Amino acid sequence: MADRFDFAPLLSGDAQRRAAPGRLVSASDAPADVVADLVVGQPAPEALPLQAMVEAAQTSLPDNPAALLYGRRQGHLELVDAVREKLRVFEGLDVDRDQILITNGSSQALDMVLRAFVDRGQLVALDEASFGALFVHRVTDRGAHVPWDAQGPRADDLARLFETERPALFYTIPTFQNPMGATTSLARRRELLDLCRRHQVPVLEDDAYYELHYDGERPPSLYELDGGTGLVVRAGTFSKILGAGIRLGWILTAAPLAERILPLKPDGGTSPFSSTLAAAFMRRHMREQMTRLCAIYGARRDLMLETLDEHVGARARWSRPNGGFFVWLTLQRPELAAEVIDRCRRNRVLVRGGAEFRMDGNDLGAIRLAFSHAPTADIQAGVEVLGRAIAAAAAANP
Ligand SMILES: Cc1ncc(COP(=O)(O)O)c(C=O)c1O
Repeated sequence: MADRFDFAPLLSGDAQRRAAPGRLVSASDAPADVVADLVVGQPAPEALPLQAMVEAAQTSLPDNPAALLYGRRQGHLELVDAVREKLRVFEGLDVDRDQILITNGSSQALDMVLRAFVDRGQLVALDEASFGALFVHRVTDRGAHVPWDAQGPRADDLARLFETERPALFYTIPTFQNPMGATTSLARRRELLDLCRRHQVPVLEDDAYYELHYDGERPPSLYELDGGTGLVVRAGTFSKILGAGIRLGWILTAAPLAERILPLKPDGGTSPFSSTLAAAFMRRHMREQMTRLCAIYGARRDLMLETLDEHVGARARWSRPNGGFFVWLTLQRPELAAEVIDRCRRNRVLVRGGAEFRMDGNDLGAIRLAFSHAPTADIQAGVEVLGRAIAAAAAANP
């Protein structure tokens, strides 16, 4: 056999910088014998509308060759219209077709928007802990995390940052934040938008969980508050409302900006096949699906919070999310976070540490717990193990 070809030194600078295995891939590779996988922000298996998708295929595929041909670059028009209808029904928002781009999950949307505004070496402002750190890393090494208080990202800290160095973009997840499970208040949203407009900093609103609202307040999106001027680009996804395997998301912004972002999309049209099925599904099942999902996830959220009250108590504090998939737990003794995570892993309970959500690797003494995917018995068992791990770590480090 010929010698192995040594490609590593020949890789581009971009590929060299990404030498570490992708964290999104490793997240779904949990060992089979876990007691509880509280890592993945995937939908619950029982929330997946498999039978309805079979029916969607039966009604939408026959006599529809377009589903298996290359598609329009902007995205399948029926799906563009399904997103518009969703925005109209659930938010009372009227948007035009040319304000929406369909993408391969919102992951591609985030990547495109970051590439549209950020050059390597430029600074990006992002939430105190952010799912977006992973995506920002792909375009620049420089991120400034804005601390959050009970209202959301602190406007005074953002203002100070803007005065020191104007970032190329402010990337925020204002609603049912990942990982923090918190929501930016209406007043703070207005303040942040004001600040960004004054300093000419575009805003990326990553809005993966907007639809999954269980109780309490959910302010209008930043996009809506701004009135579609082009200051805000909002990214949404079908991953949480239909299923992550459908790989469909969207970008919503002012039409002239959408036109500038579109050329950053390298494909032959986001899967017309998936798009055809998703559009057919949304036409028939959108409202009932949202109601169902909120009932399923709301109950899981309640269960996780009750179990935390019972088994963790005063050794930590945690968020009480009104929607989304995650609870964010901050240890009373933050220096023990790595040990607690390790003790959980040794007892086959998987959780995600705070460092994964930072550009600087600071774990903030925090742990993210996903309640969306694990069966309810696993949520209880997992939180019980977590409680014991926190107590054991404290006892071992008096
Ligand atoms: C905040 C947030 N944005 C974006 C995504 C990406 O989702 P997808 O690419 O599946 O649409 C996720 C997935 O977990 C998320 O939590």
